[in-house]
Amino acid sequence: MNTAITNQLARRLIKAGDAAISGQQFAEEFGISRTAVWKHIKELQEEGYDIQSVKKKGYFLSAVPDSLKPEVVQPLLETAVIGRNINYHETVTSTQIIAHQLAQDGAPGGTAVLAETQTAGRGRLARNWDSAAGKGIWMSIILRPAIMPQRAPQFTLVTAVAVVQAIEEVTGLRPEIKWPNDVLLNGRKCTGILTELQADMDSVQALIIGIGLNANQTQDDFDPAVREVATSLRMEGDKPVERAVLVRSIFRHLEKYTDLYIENGFAPLKVLWESYSVTIGKRIRARTAREVLEGLAIGITDDGVLELKTDDGKIHTIYSADIEL
Ligand code: BTN
Repeated sequence: MNTAITNQLARRLIKAGDAAISGQQFAEEFGISRTAVWKHIKELQEEGYDIQSVKKKGYFLSAVPDSLKPEVVQPLLETAVIGRNINYHETVTSTQIIAHQLAQDGAPGGTAVLAETQTAGRGRLARNWDSAAGKGIWMSIILRPAIMPQRAPQFTLVTAVAVVQAIEEVTGLRPEIKWPNDVLLNGRKCTGILTELQADMDSVQALIIGIGLNANQTQDDFDPAVREVATSLRMEGDKPVERAVLVRSIFRHLEKYTDLYIENGFAPLKVLWESYSVTIGKRIRARTAREVLEGLAIGITDDGVLELKTDDGKIHTIYSADIEL
């Protein structure tokens, strides 16, 4: 069986959306017999594609397999760079570790490391990250923007905007961003973003952007320690999400916004980030490595740094902290 044609057929079905395509049409488009079309369709069905066949109309796709394998994700992609190179694993320690190694070995910008589960997923501030098998999106994306290392934190905010818009697009839910880049649904965290850097003094070699997105967990899938504060898209939206479709949307938004950033700088992204922020304009408590500060979150600077006004009128700039709302 020619896998390239099977993948093209999958891509064609995805593009057609709800519209049916007849066996004859496929046969003509791909220059193969109708029997061959039927064999490719069967192959896709065996891989988990839910393809319906309607009499006198043809085939249409009602669901893609619940897998993040490149053969499922890649036919969906609409990006030129992000996700074109996918490094997939059933189990890894951490996709961040793999991505760092790949970046050091010269992997191109846009390379994405995806895993069904992680045994040592890590979060910000050296915390563990729960990565339930097959229930979420655990991925690290290598970007190679030509920027100074000081500008790297802005990319974490750009990624948060991309993730929020992807969740909105795929689920219709309305996520918010808690500074710097926790994505919340109804006040509970559904996505965490961890940006790490490989850099010289004056240039970024690679950004490793880790995204941990809780997609299809139910409450019992979460460690009791985080049950009160974590949620998944399924828990908030009442139906499972197609993870591969969500990955496609994240890649598309991330590529669009990194391009916008490179062309126009952080200003347009800052406005977008602020429009989703649940932090700005609120009284918050910020636990930094040195102190605990309470006051009004008045905004973010052009570097993506949080500004907090304490009751004595002093304005503090906060680079890294745990925020309580
Ligand atoms: C946080 O909110 O603390 C950030 C969490 C980031 C988790 C993701 S999951 C994929 C990637 N691999 C990791 O080990 N961490 C990031």
